[in-house]
Order: sequence, then structure tokens, then C-alpha cells
Amino acid sequence: MDFTKLMSWSLKEFSSLPWRKERTLYGTLVSEIMLQQTTVSTVRGKFEEFLARFPTLKDLAAASEDEVCMAWKGLGYYRRARNLRKAAQSLIGSCNGKFPVTQEELVKLPGIGDYTASALIAIGMDKSELAIDANIERVMARYFGLGQTKGPKLHREIREMFLTGDIFPEEISARGFNEAIMDVGRVYCQAKKANCLNCPLAEGCIALLSGEPLAFPNTDQVLAKTPMHKVVLIRVISKEGNQILGVKRKRDEWLAGQVELPTYILESSDPSFKRYPLWKGPLPLELMRLGSTITKYKFENIIVESSVDLGKKWKLSPEEVNFSSVTLKILRQLKLV
Ligand code: ADE
Repeated sequence: MDFTKLMSWSLKEFSSLPWRKERTLYGTLVSEIMLQQTTVSTVRGKFEEFLARFPTLKDLAAASEDEVCMAWKGLGYYRRARNLRKAAQSLIGSCNGKFPVTQEELVKLPGIGDYTASALIAIGMDKSELAIDANIERVMARYFGLGQTKGPKLHREIREMFLTGDIFPEEISARGFNEAIMDVGRVYCQAKKANCLNCPLAEGCIALLSGEPLAFPNTDQVLAKTPMHKVVLIRVISKEGNQILGVKRKRDEWLAGQVELPTYILESSDPSFKRYPLWKGPLPLELMRLGSTITKYKFENIIVESSVDLGKKWKLSPEEVNFSSVTLKILRQLKLV
């Protein structure tokens, strides 16, 4: 592998990413948690704002859950924000504010799984480690022409190769290597599109040599295992002056802490989907329809207007209310916020 070409490309193009400018373990923890289910371009716009709001681990540990979730707005998957705060509290409370340096100790922290622990070691500490996320998995499978199906077995195969020194040698910066491969996966070597012509890893890439770079890693069984369910939801807009009825999801619920429009299930191809109550009456005036997708569910959101009792009111102000992203999208489209 041409490490020089790979890493100088990544440095030149992406060293200005905000989490790569000033490295601290705290900053790496925040950015890695943010980047797990959110794109680089979204995190790019949020990372510095979050660090300005909570400049140190101590500030984050001392903040309330609501404050942290509010600062997380726009990033989605709020469970990550709550766990990040708990990890900060645990680091301050039990580890004297110091990050443990081994995988075994790091994964004991709330919300820190194998991936985040590896990323803290490789990227945060620049110590020999490979943080295998979906990008690294795909780029390694293609470069080395690994025929294994995407998933735990492929993951183990790549890990074995790393441990035997077959991926990158000791003298290469683990930080630089991990980040450069993530960059290649995001920019040139995407799941459904490969731009091999410009890729710094083209020379020596077995998938490219095979003539079918997209055939690696094998995804046949993976795709067959995750059928999508269609769910039709009714979302109710109930207004009174400049106030709108919202439902705050409870602590251990789906979207915990966020405010949603009152929501009901009209139809579902998954009988185990019980996130909302069933819609029992006739449909009131339909304002709009909007599609959304989350994990294995394809939602059709039917937005209706209805006057129901405004028992619990939330001001129509996105700064004050932590709306779920779909609710926010609906309210924006209807020009209600
Ligand atoms: N995805 C996960 N970690 C990343 C990082 N440090 N840079 C770019 N993409 C990432």
C-alpha cells in the first residue's frame, strides 16, 4: 500500500476538519460519538458549537441531560448524547477525569463500545489500533479483495490481519492511517459508487483489479436479512394561538426527551411495531404527506389538523423545544416554525 500517497492526500484535503485541528481525548470522544450515525458534513457544522458550549469533560459532566440534548439538536439519535454525558460523569467520578488507555477499561464506560474504544486509542492517542467502522470495513475488503460477507466475520478477518501486522506496519501513524482510510471510504470508495480513477489506493487494490470493485464486500445475505416494513402514521397538528400540542417522549422510550406531534398508527406491516397508539377514528383534514425512514421502517406520515385538548403545551420555538427531527421537518414545511 502506498501509505505516503494515501496519508498526504488525507492530510491535504481533510486536516481542516474541526475535530482534527486541536486534538484532545475529550474532543475525540465527542467527535467519534457524533460521527457514528451522522455524516461528516453535519458534524462539521456542530462539533465546534458543542465544544464551545461544553469546553471540558468537567463541563459536560456537570450539565443536565436536557442541556446536553439541546446542544445535540440536529445530530439525531439522542441516546448518544445521554450516554456521552454519562461517560463524562463516569470519567470525572471514577477515573479522576483521566481517560483509561486500554480497550478493556474504555469499554466499561457507558456508551463506549468496541468501536469507540478503538477510535480513542487509534485516533485520540495515536497508538497502534484499527477502529473498524463501515468505511474501514469496506475499503479493507476491497483493497485486500476479501470475499467474506459484510458483518462480524469480515470484521474478525480484518482484525486478525491488523493484529498480524498485515494492514499497516508499526512505524505508520495509527491516527493518520485510520482517518485516511475513513476519508477514502467516504470520498472515493462508497458502498454503491467507486471512483477508482482518483483513489489514492487504486494501485494494488484487488477489487479494482477484479473489474468489479462494488462486488466487495459481499452484501447478498446482509441485504436479504433486513426487510423493510411499511408503516403509515397519522401526525396531528393541534394549534391554539401560537402554541401547538406536543408529546414529550419518556426517558426510556424511543426518541427519549424529544417532543413529537401526537402520533398514531394507521397501518403497519409489522405487528410488533407498538411505538404509538392505533388511530381509531375517521381521518380529519389532511394537510400534507411526508416520507421518512428509520432503520427497518419506511414511514408514510400523514399530517392532519385536528382540535384536540391542548392539555400539555409547548411553545412553537425550536430554541426552547427539542423537537424530533421529523416533527421539526413537518413544522418547517407547514411554516409553523
Ligand atoms: N468517521 C468516524 N470517525 C471519523 C473521523 N475521525 N474522521 C472522519 N470520519 C470519521
